[in-house]
Amino acid sequence: MTKLRSVTLNEKTQLLSELPILSGTIGPDVVDIQSLYQQTGMFTYDPGFTSTASCSSSITYIDGEKGILLYRGYPIEQLAEQCTFLEVCYLLLNGELPNADEIVQFESTITMHTMVHDQLTNFFKGFRRDAHPMAIMVAAVGALSAFYHDALDIKSKKDRDLSAIRLIAKVPTIVAMCHKYSTGLPFMYPQNKLSYVENFMRMMQGTPCDDFVPNPTLVKALDRILILHADHEQNASTSTVRLAGSSGANPYACITAGIACLWGAAHGGANEAVLAMLEEIGDVSNIAKFINKAKDKSDPFRLMGFGHRVYKNYDPRAKLMRETCHEVLTELGLHDDKIFKLALELERIALEDEYFIQKKLYPNVDYYSGIVLHALGIPSNMFTAMFAMGRTVGWIAHWDEMIADPEQKIGRPRQLYTGANKRDVPPQHIKRS
Ligand code: CMC
Repeated sequence: MTKLRSVTLNEKTQLLSELPILSGTIGPDVVDIQSLYQQTGMFTYDPGFTSTASCSSSITYIDGEKGILLYRGYPIEQLAEQCTFLEVCYLLLNGELPNADEIVQFESTITMHTMVHDQLTNFFKGFRRDAHPMAIMVAAVGALSAFYHDALDIKSKKDRDLSAIRLIAKVPTIVAMCHKYSTGLPFMYPQNKLSYVENFMRMMQGTPCDDFVPNPTLVKALDRILILHADHEQNASTSTVRLAGSSGANPYACITAGIACLWGAAHGGANEAVLAMLEEIGDVSNIAKFINKAKDKSDPFRLMGFGHRVYKNYDPRAKLMRETCHEVLTELGLHDDKIFKLALELERIALEDEYFIQKKLYPNVDYYSGIVLHALGIPSNMFTAMFAMGRTVGWIAHWDEMIADPEQKIGRPRQLYTGANKRDVPPQHIKRS
């Protein structure tokens, strides 16, 4: 260590310039700093990972400057127009779009796993009825490893695939149960004749007293919401799943860690926060006041649903979500809805404001997904759980990719220590017996 410290600045600069540069298929090159500490005795410092690639991945590509999002190379716009959510799940998990036989088989396999173990329903009864659904979801998904431990060998591809199917199939059932529990309504069992999204809508909104008749426009809208949320490369929750998984933890535990991370308002909690914000603004006449609050550095208020770490241009998902929003509101005759009009006006004013232009703050996917979910009759405290339902497949795809990666090792960042120097406990320190 002492020897390393004696390396001069010039030598360090030289060493830095000798570090390998790696190129991906597309996107910026990366400096491979794995040997940096060995060579220079220095760590890199990058809180928030703004310049750090934590892994290599072949799943999703984002160009934030140009507003491009690709899943396995396919543009999100084409996938949203031409595919179903389950086709996108297959693509994310397997790297290729399914052919006609493969999708029939995949849909059938998912359908066969939608029920949860009956004992799991007992867990719900331990919660207060007014608990936040995300709190219940974290517990219920975490509990799955206690029920499906027959296939938890993470080194076995067969076990990993089965866990993936179970999670994609059972998470909607759990999400709907979280909602039903908080409203005091009976849980609805899945129905095999329905599609993935129809089945979820029935479990969420149906009751045993009535037949549930799905509305195709609303089913399509929800399917699109799930597609748009399915993956987003190394976002906070996906990185959390990878970090949790890097220790060898089971997939249910890892996905639960992702759900917990997603809950925060800076991440998946934003869609719920958007609606709360719009309700707080209340009227178009109050927009200027709230825009000023968002710009005031002494005020913690931010325009929820605006800004993104990666997108410095219009979030492509927000564009698609905006389109879906119009379709849903037209279908439901809600175009004069106060919240929607307010959202459109707020977006217009913010996009013309110098502060938002200069900082490249555009609406993100959560800005419009909150409004669509509201129009679909989903209560706002369920919005983040819906996001988690869509993102589950992305989390699993990343977890699986990481486990299969021969370079994989436990994630263990270093730090810049700023605490006290080594010191002795004072002799006069009072001992408690
Ligand atoms: N309203 C007002 N100012 C903002 C906003 C906003 N929504 N977002 C960023 N800023 C300002 C911020 O104050 C900072 O200003 P300055 O340079 O003067 O200090 C500058 O823009 C850069 O912001 P940052 O917080 O340093 O950027 P970040 O990349 O760390 O944060 C973000 C990204 C999404 C957390 C942030 O934009 C934000 O808090 N947005 C609102 C919450 C939100 O909509 N989150 C959903 C994200 S998309 C879905 C998902 O991936 O989960």
